[in-house]
Amino acid sequence: MSASVTVRVPAKVNVQLAVGGARPDGFHDLANVFLAVGLYDEVTVTPSDTLRITCSGPDADQVPLDESNLAARAALSLAARNGRSADVHIHIAKDIPVAGGMAGGSADGAGALLACDALWGTQTPHDELLAICAELGSDVPFSLVGGAALGTGRGELLTPLPVDGDFTWVFATAEGGLSTPAVYREFDRLWEGREVPEPVASPALLDALRVGDPAALAGALANDLQPAAVSLFPSLADTLAVGTEAGVLAALVSGSGPTTAFLTKDASAADRVASALLASGTCRAARVASSPARGATVVATGG
Ligand code: C5P
Repeated sequence: MSASVTVRVPAKVNVQLAVGGARPDGFHDLANVFLAVGLYDEVTVTPSDTLRITCSGPDADQVPLDESNLAARAALSLAARNGRSADVHIHIAKDIPVAGGMAGGSADGAGALLACDALWGTQTPHDELLAICAELGSDVPFSLVGGAALGTGRGELLTPLPVDGDFTWVFATAEGGLSTPAVYREFDRLWEGREVPEPVASPALLDALRVGDPAALAGALANDLQPAAVSLFPSLADTLAVGTEAGVLAALVSGSGPTTAFLTKDASAADRVASALLASGTCRAARVASSPARGATVVATGG
């Protein structure tokens, strides 16, 4: 057994987020096409007297360090299944925007789960790891598997999708975050009195991923939560407009926002778009990243 384990976990963008009506349990059925992108958190676990979390990185002060953090809940869940205590120090080196619609919290849950499994030598089968992830949150299973996948149900039932080639993105982070439940509530409010169509994955979008065609992907990008996110965070419309004018293939809100995602032709276009976004003052930071990216991966074991 090692004295420490570090796992690297990617962020995600939803290239299609088709949202159905609210279900009796409050969740929404989705056709959710996840694409992992190369912005990463690193989660390191080390034996400790008690369960504790620390976090470093520019947004570290916004990360909860108590048991509401999905990383703590992942450790507690795995420990309970194995009849042991979750006596571990979890350190999160955070690079994924916090409360940004890029599944940063989910990434930390999946990362801590994989790291604790390796640290404790519990050798949990992959299917059981996925089931624990699904209990932690709708986006957590995807953080574990990465690549590209269609999520159905509330997003937790994954079918891996083939992707050929790379896509280059710019992600603009906003000042402040958006609460995912609040965005879904706003979605319900905007649809009040109308029948919400069944969520269905777009065949054109799946084809674009399969053949690695950025222009075709751009034409098929769709986020049903975007009107709700912009309604709650109106300045996102300005960020989207600036990116669009700077010469992107397509622009959309990432998941429940408020991070905005800009698909570009290539890396030099991405650098130009990132500079234009920063210079406009309509975002806090602009990051270039490519996709797809690998899911949660052990990158170091120590001691
Ligand atoms: O599953 P997760 O904990 O990430 O979900 C956070 C919140 O987002 C839920 O409590 C719910 O309000 C909303 N949600 C939803 N439908 C989904 C996924 C999330 O309504 N498919």
